[in-house]
Amino acid sequence: MDIQEVLQWTDEQVFVKTEKHLDSLQRCILEEVWQGEKYPKIAKKCNRSEDHIKQVARKLWKLLSEILEEDIKQSNVRSILETKALSNIYNNNGSQIVGYINSHINICGEKRQDAEEAKQRSPNPPDSPQNKSQSPIIDLTDAPELPYFYDRTSELSTLKQWILQAHTRLITVYGLSGIGKSAIALKLIEQTQTEFDYIIWLSLTNTPTLSTLQTELKQFFGRSPQPPLPTIIDYFRTSRCLVILDDVHNIFSSGQLAGQYLAGYEDYGKFFKQIATSSHQSCLILLSWEKPR
Ligand SMILES: Nc1ncnc2c1ncn2[C@@H]1O[C@H](COP(=O)(O)OP(=O)(O)O)[C@@H](O)[C@H]1O
Ligand SMILES: [Mg+2]
Repeated sequence: MDIQEVLQWTDEQVFVKTEKHLDSLQRCILEEVWQGEKYPKIAKKCNRSEDHIKQVARKLWKLLSEILEEDIKQSNVRSILETKALSNIYNNNGSQIVGYINSHINICGEKRQDAEEAKQRSPNPPDSPQNKSQSPIIDLTDAPELPYFYDRTSELSTLKQWILQAHTRLITVYGLSGIGKSAIALKLIEQTQTEFDYIIWLSLTNTPTLSTLQTELKQFFGRSPQPPLPTIIDYFRTSRCLVILDDVHNIFSSGQLAGQYLAGYEDYGKFFKQIATSSHQSCLILLSWEKPR
């Protein structure tokens, strides 16, 4: 992991606990200590007195110790942060709003694509409608309105990094009702729409069967002048699709372990798994109160 990823993760943890982001001096100290620099050199680099740097660093180690429940010092901060960030990003204990990358952990056991594979992937494959038209086909009929939006900067940048750079295929954003899952997804669409050929928002409020949902998706993809394709995954392979499924908790049964599918809806689990494990260039985002199994 590089320092920027760890810094971002650390900043999220600090923000969740304190509602404040790391300031520029704290970030500078972390970056320099990361590279093995000592306080006198950090003081020069950050343009502050050595005493001031020591004082800020001491407070920072104390804050991080409390948040991460470890005894953090200058000598061990790098190894602790690296270990914690890695295990949290890859094992689903991250902040509440950006739930997890489902595609490479417990359920699917799939790894995130490495940078080389992602780089090799053409941003505009020959069949992609994006080569013919610059604007994506968007259907937000099912989406709520978002009159204004504030904050969530770090969560948004995490999502953008996962989708645009790591090419993560399946993401779950989960949390309590009203916490802002739909809001962040709408903002994400606004900020990433030029990267996709198709964007659609579908709500599972009326508990559509998987086959109904797939029919709706095919009808939507059929708006393109391209010849129709047999399956959703074919569209995911040949085009860059962003599909948001909202209110996914409606297909889970209540009074059971979280994320258990309702009777007759188990095939959704297979569908999500297929999206997570097949090779394609699209992203499915699930918004839910609970993590799917
Ligand atoms: N970051 C935000 N900025 C502005 N309004 C927000 C933000 N997050 C949530 N809201 C507002 O709070 C309400 C609940 O958010 P919503 O995204 O619908 O929650 P959820 O989808 O988690 O149930 C909505 O009215 C929404 O517009
Ligand atoms: Mg919502």
